[in-house]
Amino acid sequence: MKNFRVLFASRNRHKFREISALLKKVGVELVFGAERYSLDVEETGTSYPQNAILKALAWAELAGMPALADDSGIEVRALGWEPGIYSSRLASNDSLRNFTILKKLEGSYDRCCRYVAAFALFFPKDGRLWLTEGYCWGEIATEPVGQCGFGYDPIFIPSGYKKTFAELGDEVKARISHRAVASYALMDMLAEYSMIE
Ligand code: IMP
Repeated sequence: MKNFRVLFASRNRHKFREISALLKKVGVELVFGAERYSLDVEETGTSYPQNAILKALAWAELAGMPALADDSGIEVRALGWEPGIYSSRLASNDSLRNFTILKKLEGSYDRCCRYVAAFALFFPKDGRLWLTEGYCWGEIATEPVGQCGFGYDPIFIPSGYKKTFAELGDEVKARISHRAVASYALMDMLAEYSMIE
């Protein structure tokens, strides 16, 4: 198996853990950006890929090595697919963000939602920029349940299951999450270009 190293362009340790576990299986070593550098990239884009590109370019330039960024969020149908790219800015902490969604959905029968993740992988040496995307559909629970994961996981019930991601834990999330799907697409591209076997 070939091995190569990629900087994870983020300060979010949860995302890092999820993606590095997936990419490790194909010989890609993800280095946690926040452990090496202090960088805060303003997310001024109007889409997930735009924000992911901003982060990948900034971290790759700083580190002089390939950088992978994730921009992600939750979209709720009854809320016009909001909060989307503003998911982390909906309120000041995870419990308040979950509470805000539950409050807005009070009395709503339509609990349909989806997680979305956009990845940008930038190679500073030759300027190649690869983008992939992943979706995970589900329903918003009626109350937060479970201790695993992060963010909206206590209120996100993935399609085909009766429990939240925070109850189901890492093993299920690693198979079916938006980040898993975006990672599979990235692995396909890496294999296509013979960067992994
Ligand atoms: P950003 O990509 O840094 O803009 O932040 C994404 C935000 O979306 C996170 O802070 C979470 O609030 C939410 N989010 C994205 N992916 C997940 C996930 O897998 N579980 C729970 N919340 C998530």
